[in-house]
Amino acid sequence: MRVGVLTGGGDCPGLNAVIRAVTKSLLHHGQCEVLGIADGFEGLMGSAPRSRVLGWEQVSGIAHLGGTILGTSNSANPLRDAATLAQVGRNVQALGLDVLVVIGGDGTMSLAHGVADATGLACVGVPKTIDNDILHCERSFGFDTAVATVTEALRRIESTGYSHHRVMIVETMGRHAGWLALEAGIAGAADIILLPEIDYDLAAVAEHCRAREQRQRYTIICMGEGAKERGGALTVRAHVAGSPDPVRLGGVAHALCARLQPLLASEVRATVLGHVQRGGDPTPFDRVLATRYGHHAAQLVLDGAHGRMVTLQGGQIASVPIAQVANAQRTVAPDHELVTMARDIGVCLGD
Ligand code: F6P
Repeated sequence: MRVGVLTGGGDCPGLNAVIRAVTKSLLHHGQCEVLGIADGFEGLMGSAPRSRVLGWEQVSGIAHLGGTILGTSNSANPLRDAATLAQVGRNVQALGLDVLVVIGGDGTMSLAHGVADATGLACVGVPKTIDNDILHCERSFGFDTAVATVTEALRRIESTGYSHHRVMIVETMGRHAGWLALEAGIAGAADIILLPEIDYDLAAVAEHCRAREQRQRYTIICMGEGAKERGGALTVRAHVAGSPDPVRLGGVAHALCARLQPLLASEVRATVLGHVQRGGDPTPFDRVLATRYGHHAAQLVLDGAHGRMVTLQGGQIASVPIAQVANAQRTVAPDHELVTMARDIGVCLGD
């Protein structure tokens, strides 16, 4: 059996551990050849496919490395028109692929679903994203590493914030889901956590900062890039034409900084963490989770369980139909246990 592996969407710590586990599990089985596709679906969209053979040697010594040895793209769209889709079909045939293992987020899963539907290609999915927003999956690999990175940043921001008696706003990634801001905000002891799922009231945020001006004299605000003021709009950084997910968020921290400053005596500063949240080596937790996902994806391939994505439910590895996770996001319920707990320990959620 010939199996292709690709990584799509934004990169994420743990991708290499998945590639390694899929490849080694399939090679260990003995009847498989594995091909790594370059740069996500982009590697299947050109006039000739871009791929290389993955053997034991190519995937050794990579489990701890951030990024992806295969490369990725978050703008390639194999479904953009009929000609591109037909070219993908020809490239799959030319490579002789029996199955494609697609490692990506909800956008990449919808591409896999669309390509499978149109060309008949058998796909198996592996959930990847630092946003932790994939439906039916309680933990995507990469999230734990990103939480650790943001938590560390919040601690650093705090020491300069209290020294200067400032209000410090830290913007995290996460798109329309607040998991990263919420978990890192709790771990990093933020005073105010603003989530995309709970529109904030500027007056309530200012009031919390003013109360702290009297006592602690500094405030740390951790906010997801998808957060917005009550009655306000999303802050969009860019539109990437042709991308399966064209809206790129960003800029909320500076926007809030400008709105909050006139209401406070303290100086307000904004920090955007950006791609440091996605880069770097995966934590041990993410290496193990990524390896479990990769190993299970290989089992699905060998069992002929196509059209399914590996997932984690109740701490157990399971799988769900890719169709169920395509183009949908798992967001934070406003009454989620972590949100309620944060309120109960005095964190302001902005409402
Ligand atoms: O989905 C992962 C993610 O890191 C989001 O949190 C963020 O909004 C987006 O990707 C940023 O993508 P880009 O690589 O285009 O900056």
